[in-house]
Amino acid sequence: MKIIKVKNYDEMSRKAANIISAQVLIKPDSVLGLATGGSPLGTYKQLIEWYNKGDIDFSEITSINLDEYVGLPDTHEQSYHYFMHENFFDHVNVKPENIHVPNGVAANMTQACREYEELIKKAGGIDLQLLGIGTDGHIGFNEPDDFFEPLTHVVSLTESTIKANTRFFDSEDDVPRKAITVGIKTIMQAKKVLLIVNGKNKADAVKEAVCGKVTPAVPASILQLHPDCTIIGDEEAFSKL
Ligand code: F6R
Repeated sequence: MKIIKVKNYDEMSRKAANIISAQVLIKPDSVLGLATGGSPLGTYKQLIEWYNKGDIDFSEITSINLDEYVGLPDTHEQSYHYFMHENFFDHVNVKPENIHVPNGVAANMTQACREYEELIKKAGGIDLQLLGIGTDGHIGFNEPDDFFEPLTHVVSLTESTIKANTRFFDSEDDVPRKAITVGIKTIMQAKKVLLIVNGKNKADAVKEAVCGKVTPAVPASILQLHPDCTIIGDEEAFSKL
């Protein structure tokens, strides 16, 4: 694991955007695995800024998002479809047909999971996977468990994830209880992994993920075994390392 400690959220976002830009420059048709949430917002903002300056071109990339809430249609303001369009896709030149987010309202979720895996395979796998980390150590929506779930699947969100995500909804009751997420094997097969993390509330999860043993009880700990994983974190998130 390569650990990059930065001062604050802005520096984290700029550095992450730099790594993503470099990836797209070197391989314009990169397959980018993308995340939602508070962590990557600044990164997307920076990438949009550079795109507007003409410094980066997304016309050939394919994007494959990590996860989506089950039960929220694309039009719901808290769906990850909506988030990605609002905060990134609608501001850059990614081709609509190259944008992929798991379908949280599929009539047959098992089939939707299988199809998402096929899609990733067909795209040639993920070149660069951007990740955030949950306070419980989750990556994507792979929650702490007794085993690592390898492929795209439906998961029940933990109490801590529901609580953490309540900030985006009117009330805790409105947070969906299930999500569809790519699995650990899919994440681990990405050629590069870039995890970004900020804030004191993530310090314990970061410590467990980086210094603890590799265990499905802390899903992010598996990244210790990835051959090309970079973690960019601010001083607060790294305060317990
Ligand atoms: C989101 C995702 C989640 C988040 C994590 C951290 O697509 O996969 O694993 O990255 O919950 O969320 P924030 O960044 O909001 O703290």
